Amino acid sequence: MNKCHKKTKEITEIILKAKKKATSEVDTKAESEFVKNIKWPVDCVVGPGLEGAIACESKVGYVNGSKGWLVYRGYDIFELCAHSSFEEVSYLLLYGKLPSENQFNKFKEKLIDYRNIPKTIRLLSSFPVQEMNAMGALRLGTNLMRQECTFVDREEYKPGVKTTISADEDSIPMETRPMGERKAIYSLKRAEGIKKPSGLSKDLHMPVGFESALHLISGIPTIAGAVARLRAGELPLNPDPELSHAANLIYMLTGRRPSAIEERIMDIALILHADHGMNASTFATMVVASTLSDLYFAIGSGVAALNGSLHGGANERVINMLAEIGSSDNVKKWYKKKREKKEKISGFGHRVYKAYDPRARVLGPLANFLVKSKNDSKIKDLLKTAKNLEGEVVASLGKEKKIFPNVDFYSGIVYSCLDIPTELFTPIFAVSRASGWTARVLEYLKNNRIFRPRAVYSGPLDEKYTPISKRK
Ligand SMILES: CC(C)(COP(=O)(O)OP(=O)(O)OC[C@H]1O[C@@H](n2cnc3c(N)ncnc32)[C@H](O)[C@@H]1OP(=O)(O)O)[C@@H](O)C(=O)NCCC(=O)NCCS
Repeated sequence: MNKCHKKTKEITEIILKAKKKATSEVDTKAESEFVKNIKWPVDCVVGPGLEGAIACESKVGYVNGSKGWLVYRGYDIFELCAHSSFEEVSYLLLYGKLPSENQFNKFKEKLIDYRNIPKTIRLLSSFPVQEMNAMGALRLGTNLMRQECTFVDREEYKPGVKTTISADEDSIPMETRPMGERKAIYSLKRAEGIKKPSGLSKDLHMPVGFESALHLISGIPTIAGAVARLRAGELPLNPDPELSHAANLIYMLTGRRPSAIEERIMDIALILHADHGMNASTFATMVVASTLSDLYFAIGSGVAALNGSLHGGANERVINMLAEIGSSDNVKKWYKKKREKKEKISGFGHRVYKAYDPRARVLGPLANFLVKSKNDSKIKDLLKTAKNLEGEVVASLGKEKKIFPNVDFYSGIVYSCLDIPTELFTPIFAVSRASGWTARVLEYLKNNRIFRPRAVYSGPLDEKYTPISKRK
């Protein structure tokens, strides 16, 4: 067991129990169709929204939706939650293997360093953050970070045509079937081709690469903390170098140093949200990065995509929905009405999981554990309401349509128990997903090809132009 987890053994036991339940309910064979090396071009059946499309090969993580598995770099999510930490999982996602003690210590020192982003926080504080959507402010913060310790906008840095664009970029007409030509895939040569401008401080780094990834993974929680404090009319707090990533996050968000149990539960929540295949926000970051825009812009677009209520915004809606139900006694009546109107229930269903989401398997019992330790009747009834609702939905939609609780269903209750305001739930999701976003972008850039699907035109072709004065 990780020596840092000695004080929170009961949490480890909860996770191992959840793992046992999961493995007893699903089989453990991978789907050969999605676990292999790709030979381009590939044939696949594609639905609207690119459903089913295979966009790239990746070694970062694997989601098996029909069996309810989540794997990062070969490690099962339950194992990582039980034994690892968010810092270690970030290393794993970025570098592909678990670190040695020495590598891990160096990595953590970098994270401590990069948590300090005074220029960004100063600039952010000059905006009306209290009037902004929290995710809007977070996104702004990621863009302000571009100037913090990179030489991103210096003329000397600008990539030249030779270093970035293959002569073949436009040589394959859209009308032809993709050929998957090796020569049409052009790699990112910036790191090799462009030297750091002379006379610059050694602390400055490239806007794309591992340093910028660590900078963003560390800096985003500091921005989230500043957003929380500014919105509450308080001054942002400096990160505490003695605290872990998870403990720092709670401290910067709430101004309160968490207990070992609270820190561990936040750490697990961060591990659970760190990566999840080609989801919409990850895809958004990859699309932006594939144009050879930089990592800061790419992550900013991930934040924007995550804000949507079909994606990261759902956990906020779950808490509002539970409040709307009002009490655990009202669940049956409320649910019946929603079903009659065929309305969707927030926190249930998933585009990929058609089995119980493994993240909800962990967060459900953790919410239970946290709520029990609190002397708060309101939050106790909120959890009871959630459990009753889960019972109703699983009994009807679970059987009928394979709709089960997803990661967002219990995460909101967990964060509420940690005294985190609802509007900050989605920023916490971004804090965690920064690892997966950056890991996948850096992996993709090794064999970059600009994303360019196509639409089928179904409009008219022979319209005649009418001058505005003659239009009805
Ligand atoms: C996440 C989500 C967009 C995935 O959707 P999807 O796999 O594309 O499924 P669809 O939206 O096409 O729905 C398929 C069917 O299941 C039903 N369904 C899906 N999610 C449902 C939910 N949360 N509550 C009730 N019914 C749901 C749909 O009404 C639809 O029914 P129909 O076939 O009778 O029309 C969807 O489940 C959803 O909107 N959930 C609520 C929001 C949420 O929790 N998002 C966070 C995801 S992590």
